[in-house]
Amino acid sequence: MENTETIKSIGKEALKDFEKVSSYQEVENFRIKYLGRKGILSNLFDKLKELPKEEKPQFGKELNLLKKELEEKYELLRQKFPKPKEFELKDDLTLPGIKPRIGSKHIVTKTLDEIKEIFKSFGFVIAEGPELETDYYNFSALNFPEDHPARDMQDTFFISKELLLRTHTSPVQIRYMESHKPQIRIIAPGRVFRNEAISARSHCIFHQVEGLYVDTNVTFAELKGTLVNFAKIFYGSDVAIRFRPSFFPFTEPSAEMDVSCIICKGKGCRLCKYTGWLEILGCGMVDPNVFKSVNYDPEIYTGYAFGMGIERIAMLKYGIDDIRILFENDLRFLKQFKGL
Ligand code: DAH
Repeated sequence: MENTETIKSIGKEALKDFEKVSSYQEVENFRIKYLGRKGILSNLFDKLKELPKEEKPQFGKELNLLKKELEEKYELLRQKFPKPKEFELKDDLTLPGIKPRIGSKHIVTKTLDEIKEIFKSFGFVIAEGPELETDYYNFSALNFPEDHPARDMQDTFFISKELLLRTHTSPVQIRYMESHKPQIRIIAPGRVFRNEAISARSHCIFHQVEGLYVDTNVTFAELKGTLVNFAKIFYGSDVAIRFRPSFFPFTEPSAEMDVSCIICKGKGCRLCKYTGWLEILGCGMVDPNVFKSVNYDPEIYTGYAFGMGIERIAMLKYGIDDIRILFENDLRFLKQFKGL
């Protein structure tokens, strides 16, 4: 009986409150007072639990009716006094900020930087040349015969009969010698272009570093000394090195330099095609005809030159078996080299 009275009086009180409501804030007060977690209804439900068993069904029923009534009233109020804009939740300034993602150098850039640093420490300076070259600088001045296969449309991107995308960084040798007198000690890094089908092993755009040293009495021994030192700094002092005779139009004699395979250390594996060796660069003594094309007297001056592909060198250093992945900008790949 007492309980029924309580419920009735609460119902009355709520009705009075309901009629007085005139703003959104008062709607909220109404909700908190009757329906909130610590509100009147919640208290009554706690009380219900403590009642003697026989009183529970009656009180429970009345309480549920009251709850329904109050919820309906609240719903009416909500519609009548909707939430004004200034009550909308603003940005929460206490939330932790979004950390900016910090990028890192691409593995090709990193490799190039390392190569530059090593040669700078040997006294070489950086030289640059254009990517759009003439047939003369890319081929003729470098002693390529008229009918050399590299001049073929299939290997070279020709823009016109005279203009082409340089196929190697060697033309920088000519440009530099034309505008400087010996002693010359340069490296020329840059992009080169070949009209090749893209595959795991070759790309139509890649990077090279060219080297050129010109003075009087330059010997092949100096060439070897410089390149062996470079390889030992770059790959580690336990790397084995060998030179094989080769041919390039602009050097005589010419050689290719191999380093012992970084994966199998010379035992033979897939990367080195079971030879134990990896070819990393071409080199040789500057051909007298090249000196003639820049008006250097080959009787006075001698020199050595070398050229290496950066992607190839990076791939061999880090055990990457597909050149295409270097140009895809896949973050999952790039992130692996972040800490290096
Ligand atoms: N230009 C050559 C190439 O692209 C690489 C090269 C070989 C450069 C021997 C040189 C050299 O300076 O001496 O395959």
